[in-house]
Amino acid sequence: MSTPVRPDFLPFSRPTVESGEINEVVDSMNSGWITTGPKVARFEGLFREYLGVSEAIAVSSATAGWHLVVKALGIGPGDEVIVPAITWPSMANIVELSGARAVFAEVHPDTLQIDAEDLRRRLTERTRAVIPVHFAGAACDIDAIEAAIGDRPIKLVEDAAHALGTDYRGRRVGSEGRITLFSFHATKNVTTGEGGMIACNDAALAARLRLLRFHGITRDTWARSSGKGGTADFELLEPGYKYNMLDLQAAMGLHQLPKLERFNARRAELAARYDRLLAHLPCVRPLATVPYASQHAHHLYVVRLDTQALGLSRDEFVTALAQHNIGTGLHFPAIHLKQYYRERYGYTAADCPNAVLLGNSILSLPLYPNLLDTDIDDVVNAISKVVLRTTSSHP
Ligand SMILES: Cc1ncc(COP(=O)(O)O)c(C=O)c1O
Repeated sequence: MSTPVRPDFLPFSRPTVESGEINEVVDSMNSGWITTGPKVARFEGLFREYLGVSEAIAVSSATAGWHLVVKALGIGPGDEVIVPAITWPSMANIVELSGARAVFAEVHPDTLQIDAEDLRRRLTERTRAVIPVHFAGAACDIDAIEAAIGDRPIKLVEDAAHALGTDYRGRRVGSEGRITLFSFHATKNVTTGEGGMIACNDAALAARLRLLRFHGITRDTWARSSGKGGTADFELLEPGYKYNMLDLQAAMGLHQLPKLERFNARRAELAARYDRLLAHLPCVRPLATVPYASQHAHHLYVVRLDTQALGLSRDEFVTALAQHNIGTGLHFPAIHLKQYYRERYGYTAADCPNAVLLGNSILSLPLYPNLLDTDIDDVVNAISKVVLRTTSSHP
């Protein structure tokens, strides 16, 4: 084993937390109000303004938001929802938890975006919704997906967990009023530690989502205890969940969201540096650019390995990079072949072969605004050492 390219470990992701966020969280802690309250309301307002939509519902995670949406759409036993085979598993899991069935659609091998033609083939009389991902921060082909759905009564819900700042054919993702889910998990382009936002333009749906977000009762804790009139009593309209965002989280979001443009510009610079440096290396290729206009949010920098030419599996490659003190991520393995889905529905690799091939050969390189150019150089240096070592010893 050669000397590591750097002495300290470079994580795959690290949140960019600055003094504004820290002071705002401390302000909440000192204020006597740390759960859902005025800062959540302000953060929702900022988000509505940013997207130009009428409704933004802050929740404890994008997964929780999806659960609320599935419930509000009345999806349940006997229904089907189409999810890409390469996505975060919670998107499929929530469908299963509702009693409906998650049906997996194939992805394009060069971009990992959902394949609209394959999605069309998987539509049935039972399909109630589809939830494509804007993968890695590039946009999926929403127009093609809408065309595939046609005039069937099927909801298109956008998974924009990676896509804060993405645009699709000049339209900001989430700005058009379709139900769109954002995540503020610690690795995301804007973070609140954990957290999510549901955006839409439907006031009635939003009211239902707000109700379901907090137990199904008509007034949350802030409304009942802020001394702004009224009593502590409430009505309970239907059993709901406990998926509210905290003021402590919104305090971070209030300072993160205004920095999105700066953060994403730095992500773009770093991604361009990877592009330039990796262009000289064999066996490691970034995902292709989508074949339509899309501003990339550069949430992830995903590369695909030619594992055959390398004579190494993806996991062996990841281990070799870790020995050089370079951390990596995996977004994502093919979900339809994970044990629960494989055993419950009998899925095989042949059901979504691109997803299986890609799920076994991709990895995500470190990418976050406070990375240094020299960190990118270290990553590429480590990759080139592993590639050259293996290709020179492999016939
Ligand atoms: C594509 C995608 N969808 C949904 C989620 C769920 O987001 P959260 O962790 O906020 O529930 C993630 C999380 O990483 C994701 O990557």
